[in-house]
Amino acid sequence: MAEPFLIGENMTGGYGAADILHSCTLAVEKGEIAVIVGPNGAGKSTAMKAVFGMLKLRQGTVRLAGEDITALAPQARVRKGMGFVPQTHNIFTTMTVQENLEMGAFIREDDQIAETMEQVYHLFPVLREKRWQKAGELSGGQRQQVAVGRALMTRPKVLMLDEPTAGVSPIVMDELFDRIIEIARSGISILMVEQNARQALEIAHKGYVLVQGSNRYTDTGHALLADPDVRRSFLGG
Ligand SMILES: Nc1ncnc2c1ncn2[C@@H]1O[C@H](COP(=O)(O)OP(=O)(O)OP(=O)(O)O)[C@@H](O)[C@H]1O
Ligand SMILES: [Mg+2]
Repeated sequence: MAEPFLIGENMTGGYGAADILHSCTLAVEKGEIAVIVGPNGAGKSTAMKAVFGMLKLRQGTVRLAGEDITALAPQARVRKGMGFVPQTHNIFTTMTVQENLEMGAFIREDDQIAETMEQVYHLFPVLREKRWQKAGELSGGQRQQVAVGRALMTRPKVLMLDEPTAGVSPIVMDELFDRIIEIARSGISILMVEQNARQALEIAHKGYVLVQGSNRYTDTGHALLADPDVRRSFLGG
């Protein structure tokens, strides 16, 4: 089989002497959705940071479109087509919605930024309404839309989302998942961590269950949802 569009393969590393990730592998195909689930502290955010270049790996490689990008800094990965929405501190709260989107485009040198902003406002109409408002004044769900919108401003080929639905109501979560599906259908690969494991696996082409920094289960989203062991241990039965 051909190489996945983005793969972090056999990633081993951590923040200090002790490793958090142990030969962890995550991948996503072009235009597909891959979801990472697992208990708190399993290393999901750490694995995302590793793929984005925010963690020094002792072992393993990250490849994007067949190119080894393991040595690249996050900024350089953005230039290669990666967008990342971290779990926390993912917007500039004292700036307006529109300023947040403009900041997202800082790396671009072309003159089509307004067009991309239009696409983001089309995807998230409430952001257009609130474009002159400070992002810190928005609701949790709206803030997450700002964060995703900001990442889309670089026109990424792959979008990495760490718990995009954290702290939002079930209805807002469904809304956000619909938008994420729409983004994937436009050809952008999605690699995301989710606490709402069941709902996320429903929309996942590929699912990863991480435990203590290692891959425990890997399969299609639906296969994981149907697996009795996965259900019992990670999906609440
Ligand atoms: N900046 C850091 N410095 C040192 N250790 C860290 C740091 N960030 C995370 N860790 C440790 O790494 C381990 C994995 O944390 P991580 O945040 O990756 O887990 P997670 O799966 O994302 O958890 P959650 O579901 O709570 O977001 C934890 O033991 C945590 O204490
Ligand atoms: Mg996390």
